[in-house]
Amino acid sequence: MKYQAIIFDLDGVICHTDQYHYQAWKQMADGLGIAIDESINDQLRGVSRMASLEIILKEGGVQLPEEEKQRLAAQKNELYRSLLMQMTPADLPVEVSETLQALRDAGIRLAIGSSSKNTVMILERLGLGDFFDAVSDGNQITHSKPDPEVFLLAADLLGVPAKDCLVVEDAEAGIRAAAAGGMDAAGIGAAVGDACTYRIGRFSELVQIAAGDKS
Ligand code: BG6
Ligand code: MG
Repeated sequence: MKYQAIIFDLDGVICHTDQYHYQAWKQMADGLGIAIDESINDQLRGVSRMASLEIILKEGGVQLPEEEKQRLAAQKNELYRSLLMQMTPADLPVEVSETLQALRDAGIRLAIGSSSKNTVMILERLGLGDFFDAVSDGNQITHSKPDPEVFLLAADLLGVPAKDCLVVEDAEAGIRAAAAGGMDAAGIGAAVGDACTYRIGRFSELVQIAAGDKS
């Protein structure tokens, strides 16, 4: 195997919660009279809740006191969590669950590396509460992506050197975080930038990448 471990981002990689983040931010932004679209949403991928709020406020040229920012972020999170409550294991794409199983059967250690503080809830709703060998998330870190902290912690929890880990990401901030941590990265989707080690169109391509059969 080319990699001993794979560290997956969660939102937009394992499941489509990136769309729920967008819906919730859009509703909050509408309330402030700030128009956001998919290109702004792409800038929110991978970064922390408060950093996302700052990007939206900057887009609208709006300045608010810290207290009000905390209130808005909490309000967005409440709405986001109410959207998450609709999720069931049927929201885990079949291709993702089959690929995860194939990677595990090949002897690869599997971890989550997500900026989200809602990671555990999402994994439970998808029926993946006990699946991963390690979970590193927004509650355990001080610096969000593009800082490598969340991925380095995942590698540490797995006991695997960074150079033997592959990161899977849908966000440019996440691809940069992987590189900063000395890890290769596979990018999914249109918002990953130019620095990916691999670009993948289908999640199942990870099986060939992990085996060293794809460059
Ligand atoms: C990342 C998302 O996974 O988590 C970001 O890509 C989000 O869009 C961040 O802001 C923090 O998520 P949460 O659930 O803690 O608000
Ligand atoms: Mg993501």
